[in-house]
Amino acid sequence: MPQRTYVIDEMISAKSIAARIEALAREIREEFRDTDKLVVVGLLRGSFVFIADLVRELDLPVEVDFLEASSYDNAMESSREVRILKDLRGQIEGRDVLVVEDIVDTGFTLDHVLHLLGSRHPKKLKTIALLDKPSRREAPVRADWIGFEIPDEFVVGYGIDFAQRNRNLPYIGKVRFTGEDVPA
Ligand code: IMP
Repeated sequence: MPQRTYVIDEMISAKSIAARIEALAREIREEFRDTDKLVVVGLLRGSFVFIADLVRELDLPVEVDFLEASSYDNAMESSREVRILKDLRGQIEGRDVLVVEDIVDTGFTLDHVLHLLGSRHPKKLKTIALLDKPSRREAPVRADWIGFEIPDEFVVGYGIDFAQRNRNLPYIGKVRFTGEDVPA
């Protein structure tokens, strides 16, 4: 399979991300100030860097859990289906829960996850997304906290991949295809 060549242009610097996380963490600490335990749920795999930085700014009793969902087009029903590939290890009934997502794009993934977790009767269920692409939204969902609103661009870095690559960039970059194909 030929691979498209691309370059990555920095869009959000590591410094801006860190400053934004500090500000968001202050608001989250305030929202959950009385919690006996906050279950922070990272959606794999894209949120792994974000959740690591976020929890270190939360001066609260936290427990970390992960959930992996995959979404794909269902041509038969012209809709998107979301499948849970890895469920939480712990129970969330009666618990304070914060779902951490890397990007909300169409919103189908977050919408599905929120319905699923909501059906388990947490005490409070809130969401944070590092990035939001509101112009792409199809499902009626919005995170309670958003790091940055971005235009309809394909981005990588800070945990977010393009075909499993570039997750280890310390910043968020925009993928710009250079047009030439090279053998994989
Ligand atoms: P949604 O269900 O369309 O909101 O999809 C959300 C998921 O799609 C994110 O958690 C990402 O894994 C992936 N995604 C959406 N936009 C991008 C992007 O620009 N770069 C890489 N992955 C993306």
